[in-house]
Amino acid sequence: MRDTIRFLKGGKIVELEDVGPTETLLDYLRLRRRETGTKEGCGEGDCGACTVALGRIVDGRLVYLPVNSCIQLLGMIDGAELVTVEDLAEDNRLHPVQSAMVELHGSQCGFCTPGFVMSLFTLYHAEGKEKSRKTVTDWLAGNLCRCTGYRPIVDAALEACFDAADDAFSWRAKDTREQLRVLSDGSDVFIGDSDRFFSAPATLDGLAALYSQHPDATLVSGATDVGLWITKQLREFPKVIWLGRVEGLDRVEESPSGVLIGATATYQATEQAMTGISADLGELWRRIGSKQVRASGTVGGNIANGSPIGDTPPALIALGATLELSSAESSRALPIEDFFIEYGKQDRQSGEFVTGLFVPRLSANQAFRCYKISKRFDQDISSVMAAVRLTADEEGTVTEARIAYGGMAGTPKRATAAEAALTGASLEDPSTWGPAMQALLSDFTPMTDMRASAEYRMETARALLAKALMEMSGTAPEQVRVLARRETGNDRAA
Ligand SMILES: Cc1cc2nc3c(=O)[nH]c(=O)nc-3n(C[C@H](O)[C@H](O)[C@H](O)COP(=O)(O)OP(=O)(O)OC[C@H]3O[C@@H](n4cnc5c(N)ncnc54)[C@H](O)[C@@H]3O)c2cc1C
Ligand code: FES
Ligand code: FES
Repeated sequence: MRDTIRFLKGGKIVELEDVGPTETLLDYLRLRRRETGTKEGCGEGDCGACTVALGRIVDGRLVYLPVNSCIQLLGMIDGAELVTVEDLAEDNRLHPVQSAMVELHGSQCGFCTPGFVMSLFTLYHAEGKEKSRKTVTDWLAGNLCRCTGYRPIVDAALEACFDAADDAFSWRAKDTREQLRVLSDGSDVFIGDSDRFFSAPATLDGLAALYSQHPDATLVSGATDVGLWITKQLREFPKVIWLGRVEGLDRVEESPSGVLIGATATYQATEQAMTGISADLGELWRRIGSKQVRASGTVGGNIANGSPIGDTPPALIALGATLELSSAESSRALPIEDFFIEYGKQDRQSGEFVTGLFVPRLSANQAFRCYKISKRFDQDISSVMAAVRLTADEEGTVTEARIAYGGMAGTPKRATAAEAALTGASLEDPSTWGPAMQALLSDFTPMTDMRASAEYRMETARALLAKALMEMSGTAPEQVRVLARRETGNDRAA
């Protein structure tokens, strides 16, 4: 058992004994270290001013990913290399991404600049990236600038981050990997006492035992939901169990039948496997939050949180995914839709936690579509989320329909009346689709809130089902999707 956290910064190992359960990384940097280069804007993961890079070993390679330090708990950087804007320049020479920002006029007031620079630093180090404005804008979707305008910043990214020469971090990578291996000691972390602690068990058994002892503790995975409860709702969480050190819980295992996703696997780590199941599913993953949110946020956290507007549950329900839960006493699996009982209530017993989920692949006679409707295209929460999986026979008659929506009820929910109405309908004959569209009216009574009115939600839900049916019956996506045209138009190679 270790009663400290340890991480790497500026080539040196830092060991901290005093780590509050909900102390954020941003507060540690600015208030304790007085390193004020990292800025605080929104304090809720939206603006990217607080972006820092975390380096970790993934499949033997040193990988740098951007995170929002305002909603990252300090304890969560255990075992990582922390890189902030103060670490980039060496011997008074700016890092190439900093130089490009200067030369191409990527900064005016400068408040957002450290965050952009740190996102660019992670892009600079990313492997296998395609040089395009689309790559850059996707990477920077979580960084907001209010005065410069994005064109010079995107130009700086295109100039500095592709075909880049090695920087000092690349030269030191072998040593860094060695230091990170030393930090990865496989021991449980527990800082505090039984009334107030930050803990990070290293094994599943250790997690189960600790959680059964403290069922009132708050489980934290990527903290992209929990972080906001701390910074915005000012809630107290005296006991925190961070799941990010539990060995094997971040597994992503692909097989011919489907994909097994461990509870702490991030969006970043699962995007490729989801694209392998369906292009729409991969695109949904890509549009969740921002690069920073996807680097920390987990699929398990999205499900466990139980939000009616979480993006993954409707898609996973339509695909027939199974959720796995464990406690110190037992383990069980259940269809994912059964987990969501009512608003704010999930089927999770005291001491029980999510260990993972299984997402089956589509069979040859199945088609799947999912659509996210939000006010902003990137970095926004859904107003309505629709997911449809249809199984059809050779004549195009629907033999099974699984249709699920988010934003239409207090939980992510199947449209059972529409499913029944669609079974037996013909994909070849649009006149047979009407009853399913009509049945949505009995499936849902949506509410009006700041994101959308009840009427808008219902109209959109019906339109999305019609769109899925049109696509599945052979209409080209370009004819029914704004996205394909818009992205093609914007995606000019540099
Ligand atoms: C800027 C921003 C943008 C976002 N955009 C989107 C978006 O586009 N779509 C979307 O759906 N969401 C979005 N979110 C919400 C959030 O990112 C997701 O819900 C994310 O998947 C949560 O995962 P996490 O690992 O960060 O969970 P955490 O915040 O760590 O935990 C969330 C909840 O789940 C519980 N929990 C976590 N892991 C387990 C487990 N293994 N067992 C039991 N309980 C557990 C926690 O106790 C907590 O109640 C956004 C958030 C931010 C800050
Ligand atoms: S301060 Fe805005 S994302 Fe952290
Ligand atoms: S330079 Fe002022 S906010 Fe970006």
